[in-house]
Amino acid sequence: MNEKPLSHQKKRTFQPEKLSPPRDFSKPSILLNNNAESAPIIIEIGTGKGKHALSFAATNPDRHLIAIERTRNKFEAFAKQASQQDLDNLTPVHADAIAWIVHAMASNSVAQIYILYPNPEQHNPNQQWLNMPFFEFLLSRLQEGGEIILATNIETYMDNAEQQADRVWRLPAVRQQVPADSQRTHFEVKYLARNESCWQLTMHKPTGYQTRFDEWTASE
Ligand SMILES: C[S@@+](CC[C@H](N)C(=O)[O-])C[C@H]1O[C@@H](n2cnc3c(N)ncnc32)[C@H](O)[C@@H]1O
Repeated sequence: MNEKPLSHQKKRTFQPEKLSPPRDFSKPSILLNNNAESAPIIIEIGTGKGKHALSFAATNPDRHLIAIERTRNKFEAFAKQASQQDLDNLTPVHADAIAWIVHAMASNSVAQIYILYPNPEQHNPNQQWLNMPFFEFLLSRLQEGGEIILATNIETYMDNAEQQADRVWRLPAVRQQVPADSQRTHFEVKYLARNESCWQLTMHKPTGYQTRFDEWTASE
């Protein structure tokens, strides 16, 4: 029988085998000892100076947050605060999240992914997260029933993300306006203080969802 490909399977394919591990890469210990009893793994991509990561880890001791930031000065500010707060359920990572996730994360292993106020990429929409072939790989690392939470102050970014979630990735998603008193990240605080609207899209990975990377594992 000729099965029709899902619409995301018609998209240009991500090629994880072409990505080298980030410099000085090693898997954090939480991923080496992972078993059914371990805390659910949460990933934050582009954590900036870490306002959300630090408060999330402090208020969710039963979850383990891996917070990834590639810009050195932001990462250093975050890492300094993280070491002062000494939270054992927080792993700060200085790396490009794409290469790091490819080399560190097993398929179907992440409960939640936060992407809060990503770079707008208005002149290079191919670099918006839901437009990237990497997004299929990211979905393969998410557990069934897991969710991706995206926030932005750019209405066209949110409109496109909502459309891509539905038409390309076939993900049930809920769009909401971020409350005016929310203060999760430095960028959120800045935008809401200027009376800008901010939006959030919460996307769910349904049971039985398939990607072309479900069996893919980085070679050690
Ligand atoms: C606009 S800032 C938002 C920072 C923070 N989430 C906040 O809301 O305050 C976007 C951040 O994403 C980081 N970033 C962008 N692409 C990344 C990638 N591929 N891997 C890791 N960090 C990335 C940038 O370095 C930047 O710090």
